[in-house]
Amino acid sequence: MSEQEKVIDEKRQGEAIQDQNSIENPNGHIYIESYGCAMNFSDSEIVASILKEANYATTTNMEEADVIFVNTCSIRENAESKVRHRLHEFKKLRKKKPELLIGVLGCMAERLKSKLLEEEKLVDMVVGPDAYRTLPQLIQLAEDGQKSVNVLLSREETYADINPVRLGSNGINAFISIMRGCDNMCSFCVVPFTRGRERSRDPESIVREAQLLYDQGYKEVTLLGQNVDSYFWAGNDITKENVQEGMQTTNFANLLEMVAKVGPELRVRFSTSHPKDMTDEVLKTMAKYENICNYVHLPVQSGNSRILNIMNRGYTREWYMERIKAIRNIIPDCGISSDIISGFCSETEEEHHETKSMMEWAEFDFSYMFKYSERPGTLAERKFADDVPEETKGRRLQEIVDLQQKLSYQSNLKDIGKTFKVLAESVSKRSKEHLSGRNSQNKVVIFPKGEFNPGDYVQVTITSCTPATLIGSISFED
Ligand code: SAH
Ligand code: SF4
Ligand code: F3S
Repeated sequence: MSEQEKVIDEKRQGEAIQDQNSIENPNGHIYIESYGCAMNFSDSEIVASILKEANYATTTNMEEADVIFVNTCSIRENAESKVRHRLHEFKKLRKKKPELLIGVLGCMAERLKSKLLEEEKLVDMVVGPDAYRTLPQLIQLAEDGQKSVNVLLSREETYADINPVRLGSNGINAFISIMRGCDNMCSFCVVPFTRGRERSRDPESIVREAQLLYDQGYKEVTLLGQNVDSYFWAGNDITKENVQEGMQTTNFANLLEMVAKVGPELRVRFSTSHPKDMTDEVLKTMAKYENICNYVHLPVQSGNSRILNIMNRGYTREWYMERIKAIRNIIPDCGISSDIISGFCSETEEEHHETKSMMEWAEFDFSYMFKYSERPGTLAERKFADDVPEETKGRRLQEIVDLQQKLSYQSNLKDIGKTFKVLAESVSKRSKEHLSGRNSQNKVVIFPKGEFNPGDYVQVTITSCTPATLIGSISFED
């Protein structure tokens, strides 16, 4: 694993959740650990809400737990290995406390199904991402000594009516899930298999959730979906295919606008945009509202059209470049980040160089970079040989990591002297006298605390930087 991958993995690594909702005489205490993408962290909040309704309390103290849930990720092999390692640690805990129940939630549960029960007797429950409403019954079954599995995927489930219990929250930033599943079938990707078909959530329930957060004093919401640009709502059971003329429909641009109107002090972000679907309408909506952040995460994956074609991404190098140009035209000061895979099946040295030239051309502010990891059952696993040697994958990854480091630094240097509106999010880890926050472009900004507190918007003038952070001072000019 490269240093960069380690950093990313640590960032996304399992976080135990905090209980802010004490329950009197609970049926039991639940400890949840989450791995993987923001969607999984958001799902853990739905799980906590469902369990709270059934009178279970959540705890951050593993020792106190009657049930341990691990919300898992299957995206790369190392994501799964990490969870297996954790399950072995929990098994040791169970030696001391035999009545302790252990459940696997999320993408690994969906991918491996009952196989997980057979494996070394590590777990008692296996529950896929669309089956969380059945958790209270499954816990009861497990308490009665029956191993339980529910991995049914649904075409409708969006948990729209569930008000998530905000876990480990700072009271400032929150995720709102706007859709589930993915229909794209990128050839390397396991998500369509672990999360099922794409479905969008009723916009009214999304706006209601945003409003509630705003009323509680939250300052930023991030709308989540695997491909937010394909958000579509025309009513229950109505899809893009069977929609009729004259019906009122809501696309992602419309939804963004609805959420932006909740309040001028509520920042709106979203993830993830897909280059094949991102429209100018969305970009224009972003430009229209000051509180929609000027930041797009637009994963390119590769800069070479042949590789993009066998990845089944649905766009070419030229198309991607045209989308970047559209962002730069419509939102001149937009932050842009990307995801990149190195060493996909049959990738040549020249094709790898095209990825690097794309990075330079697009001037990404930040990228998540990964070595290709073959996933069982995916199109790529069935059709193509995973034939780039491990060493070459590693070397190519290192090259793109080094390049990104240079690009991030260059991008940050350009911000010196500029003044940004920063949402303060926490006290800086390095100094109690400094606050850490982000500007609209999603860059981390550190500045002296002064009279300000987390949750405040602060005008900050940038005075210096590192490749990862902007450092500034409070600006008193208006
Ligand atoms: N829906 C998002 C991405 C979700 S997964 C999108 O389409 O952009 C997050 C990232 O993990 C992907 O963008 C991709 O870069 C990476 N990824 C997915 N499958 C992978 C695999 N098999 N090996 C390595 N990286 C992978
Ligand atoms: Fe995976 Fe592609 Fe869907 Fe993203 S869009 S989740 S990469 S299949
Ligand atoms: Fe992982 Fe599932 Fe998200 S595979 S990246 S947790 S959708």
